[in-house]
Amino acid sequence: MFRMSSRRVVSPGFLALSCLMLCQTISSASASRPRKVIFDHDGGIDDYVTLLLLLASPEAVRVVGITILDADCRAAVAWNTTLKLLHTLGHGAIPVAVSSLPAVNPFPDPWRNSVLSVDVMPLINDLTQEDLEPLRLSTPGEELMAQLLLGSGSGSGANSGTSSGSNATTRNNDRGNAGSAAGGYDKDGRDGDRGDGDDDDERITIVATGPLSNVAFVLKKYGRAAAARIREVWWMGGAMWVGGNVDFPGHDGSAEWNAFWDPAAVGEVWGWAEVPLIVVPLDATNAVPVTPDLIYRFGRQARHRYSVLAGTVWSRVVTWVYDRPHEPYYAWDTLTAACVLQPDLCEKLYDVESYAVVGGASQGRTVPLAPSPDAVARTAGGGGDKGSCAVAPDAEAEQKEKEKVEKEEEVELQRAEEARMLEELVEAGEGEGQETRRQHQSARRRVTVVKHVDAEAFYTFVLDTLRL
Ligand SMILES: *[C@@H]1O[C@H](CO)[C@@H](O)[C@H](O)[C@H]1NC(C)=O
Ligand SMILES: *[C@@H]1O[C@H](CO)[C@@H](O)[C@H](O)[C@H]1NC(C)=O
Repeated sequence: MFRMSSRRVVSPGFLALSCLMLCQTISSASASRPRKVIFDHDGGIDDYVTLLLLLASPEAVRVVGITILDADCRAAVAWNTTLKLLHTLGHGAIPVAVSSLPAVNPFPDPWRNSVLSVDVMPLINDLTQEDLEPLRLSTPGEELMAQLLLGSGSGSGANSGTSSGSNATTRNNDRGNAGSAAGGYDKDGRDGDRGDGDDDDERITIVATGPLSNVAFVLKKYGRAAAARIREVWWMGGAMWVGGNVDFPGHDGSAEWNAFWDPAAVGEVWGWAEVPLIVVPLDATNAVPVTPDLIYRFGRQARHRYSVLAGTVWSRVVTWVYDRPHEPYYAWDTLTAACVLQPDLCEKLYDVESYAVVGGASQGRTVPLAPSPDAVARTAGGGGDKGSCAVAPDAEAEQKEKEKVEKEEEVELQRAEEARMLEELVEAGEGEGQETRRQHQSARRRVTVVKHVDAEAFYTFVLDTLRL
């Protein structure tokens, strides 16, 4: 990661922020009908907690389909695991398909392998493979996503009355499991996962917690017809004003892994400015590590099935706090779903002009064309008074905290400065490599960025939601 320490003054023109901070005014989800959601995940550990959270919130969302990328998982296992969770919780009617889209830069094997530790959980294995067979779709995940968006029917996947000839819409559901009422839509008077009385014209929210490959595929292949059916895409990915988490030979470390896995897909989605995109980048997820304390708290609500499942799933990665103290496991994906379910949790910056880097040593990097509001505030205020009101009896801890904040500030300013210089170079359009640089940049678009989240508010929300 770059560690130049020059602290240049950011030019005033650069300070003219294109992003506005607005109070979140979206009415509480419970006031309206549940939104239709496609959960587009990549089989990582927190993807299963994310699934639990979505299923536990029938008044806010209705999961109409699930697509799995072979990214932070072994897809064959992740498929197993996802189906087992759904079957166990009585949601077997939700169509699930594995995408055929390949990695550009594969995730490290140990991360991919960890899905097995969830698949073997006794809590989801009181079944046979025959139970799961009817739930397996042969349609590739990217085509399932297209069918759900464009499909003639409601796209609810289990609407057996309106056959459209595809496996995704004709497969009979299997809700015969004893636990089916536990977290189902039955609670709110709906007929299982069928969602009778659907508004077929209702657009669909995509919650993408892995690479953007499926979304990019659908946009590229089906164009405006698909774009028009997407209400918004919520994406866990990118690193806007903080460093990335990719540690890979030949890469400069500025990218986040989901983006790095398929940089061209990020570029493709950046090319669709008409599709609302809300990014939950490392800037926000760095605030929510999965800590032992968090998992202990699930123990105090262990009579609730969803809590036991979520706590057990997250326990698979808790040793990261020892193994990688500076880079523990974060609730990346779960935070993204929580922001969809409870917008008040997440402070958003609207209309951040940005582009993505699709090739070269920074591939997968997401570049905002304005400094973060924090950096601006610090520059304006002479900087560095963060924490001055805190009375820290422990001088050493205080010093450490101060150094940490300073380091973060430095990285942030550095990134903003780099982005500005890169812009200048490209604008100038001169010299060796400029053309390459330009080729490596996606189109620019405005995105909404989730920048801050209160960790305790998030943890409490997850715990409360999973008391089911
Ligand atoms: C799926 O789970 C079953 C046990 O329920 C196991 O026998 C099978 O090997 C698993 N498949 C994969 C691909 O892991
Ligand atoms: C449906 O599934 C069968 C095999 O199970 C497959 O041969 C067929 O191509 C699938 N149809 C579609 C439309 O995906």
